[in-house]
Amino acid sequence: MSFTVAIDGPAAAGKGTISRAVAARFGFAHLDTGLLYRAVGRRMLAGEPSIAAAEALTPDDLADPDALRTAAVAEAASKVAVIPEVRAALLDFQRAFARRAGGAVLDGRDIGTVICPEAEVKLFVTASAEVRAERRLKELLAAGFETDLGTVLADVKSRDARDAERASAPMRAADDALTLDTSAMGVEEAVAAAVAAVEAARVG
Ligand code: CDP
Repeated sequence: MSFTVAIDGPAAAGKGTISRAVAARFGFAHLDTGLLYRAVGRRMLAGEPSIAAAEALTPDDLADPDALRTAAVAEAASKVAVIPEVRAALLDFQRAFARRAGGAVLDGRDIGTVICPEAEVKLFVTASAEVRAERRLKELLAAGFETDLGTVLADVKSRDARDAERASAPMRAADDALTLDTSAMGVEEAVAAAVAAVEAARVG
């Protein structure tokens, strides 16, 4: 039986942490769909045309997640993500993943609106741009990148604007999504709220 949890939201809102925790708690598979766009962005930076890159993507492109976590790749991801043919090339894989037996959690920007509008649970995880930039700064510094809060905040804001304003599958909360503003929440509290939403949908 399939059961889909769709988790959308802006950059560095905590979608990944919440998704991994929900997947572990319920034994669901997890797909970070941002990695698909990052992998296409990385190929584009290496000189490949974006649409061809999306059509040629293989699991090997996701084998080194650290190489996909850089700020340059994030920026490239949001540039290729505005191209409808890139999004179309990644659609079937995501839909099949969402409906796999045993349950799935997908996090991204358009999971509850475009990829899986029939998802049993939809969350829109957000936080203020400042809080998100601080969280991303910590991750980048821990991974050994040299950067500062001002740079990260500007990157996060410009990527959010591009993601929300594009014509094809813009980032937005589905009408029936539960919005979780994690600005003032710790990880445990945010995860508990997400777990409660899944439990309510499983019972109901
Ligand atoms: O980790 P972070 O939240 O910063 O970004 P991500 O989820 O890895 O996504 C990187 C970029 O891919 C986003 O800024 C979007 O432009 C794009 N993306 C998308 O368009 N649709 C998705 N379902 C997931 C990511």
